[in-house]
Amino acid sequence: MTPFGTVELTVYPYECDAFGHLNQAALLTLLERARWDALARGPGMDLFDRNGVWPAVRKATIEYRAAAFARDVLRVETTVAGRGTTSMTLRHVVRRVSDDTTVAEAEMVFVCIDRLGRATPLPDEIARFLGPRPPTGGHQPIRVPAGEVELAVDVRGEGVPVLFVHGFPFDRTMWRHQLATLSRVRRIAPDLRGVGDSGAPPAADGYSLTRYADDLVAVLDALGVRQAVLCGLSMGGYVIFELLRRHPERVKALILADTKPEPDSAEAKRGRDELTQVAQREGQDAVLERLLPRLLAPATQATQPEVAGQVREMARRWSVPGLVGALRTLRDRPDSTETLRSVRMPTLVLVGSEDEIAPPEAARAMAQLIPDAQCHVVPAAGHLAPLEQPLATSRLLADFLRALP
Ligand code: MLT
Repeated sequence: MTPFGTVELTVYPYECDAFGHLNQAALLTLLERARWDALARGPGMDLFDRNGVWPAVRKATIEYRAAAFARDVLRVETTVAGRGTTSMTLRHVVRRVSDDTTVAEAEMVFVCIDRLGRATPLPDEIARFLGPRPPTGGHQPIRVPAGEVELAVDVRGEGVPVLFVHGFPFDRTMWRHQLATLSRVRRIAPDLRGVGDSGAPPAADGYSLTRYADDLVAVLDALGVRQAVLCGLSMGGYVIFELLRRHPERVKALILADTKPEPDSAEAKRGRDELTQVAQREGQDAVLERLLPRLLAPATQATQPEVAGQVREMARRWSVPGLVGALRTLRDRPDSTETLRSVRMPTLVLVGSEDEIAPPEAARAMAQLIPDAQCHVVPAAGHLAPLEQPLATSRLLADFLRALP
């Protein structure tokens, strides 16, 4: 549900360039028209004025998907993707009405400012209009029994099943943009055991690659899914490698993001042991503070503080046994190079251009192991491309999924 109604607008000839295409500046204006039209039909165009504030654009990200021309009628859907104390994030999807082609997708972050230009909390009337803060992950998870625990799983949409597997120390909400926007696929995103809303075995031996992989199969079984596209980030990828060894018949295609097949070096294993002690002595926040500097691209850290905020929240949703169990699993994971060499299915490898943990060279080398695998580098992203550059990542995923046989 969105408080902003869907608005249809006609492209005027004067908004188009010499080739007849709707030009970039005009698209931004058109999105603005759509927002004001939606306000005019709802709470009134003076919603902000009468509350003494103004929504100033802080950031706009636009993905142009197809040309639009004079006289095209465009349908603009606007949803509230996020709400902070002083900010709101709106997501626009622009489609041509005549053939339902997606023309553009945009995400815009607005900060509410007062007459002196200072960020100010969203007034009550505006907060009420925007509706409740989207719950983390934007959806109520279902519960699926898996061995001795119950897993929380987001399930949305219809179509080819795509199982999203998060990394360490994140949770299913790291895929929130893809869960919200990828259309025509059934999006399935569990919290791994020990994480978020899933159950947490109390002892570290309740966690292993085998258990994580079998948990995913339990999720597929519970949903009646025989085969799925598996999409994993980093540790999510390591779990998928194990699933490929144990249950290859359940995998239709692979999306491997910011991950690598090699096991830990001796030095990396020592790092895992140190981090385990930090987890046991000081808890989740201390673990995250050690990891954070290497997780996000410098540009993300400088311009998207809300992404670092979300990463902190995800880490806080890990139980301490979950952290310890995962760190041991990461430390002891096997070399998956041979596993990947035997893969014969459509595969997309993607990696953030500034991923320090599984860098682009490692991604390219991994893609080389798999016949015909595609490999794409997502610009201006670190280790968390789906959160740092959601539109670019979702577009790669959508293109890959659309082309599947
Ligand atoms: C992850 O994102 O899952 C971790 O970076 C994996 C790792 O530390 O190897």
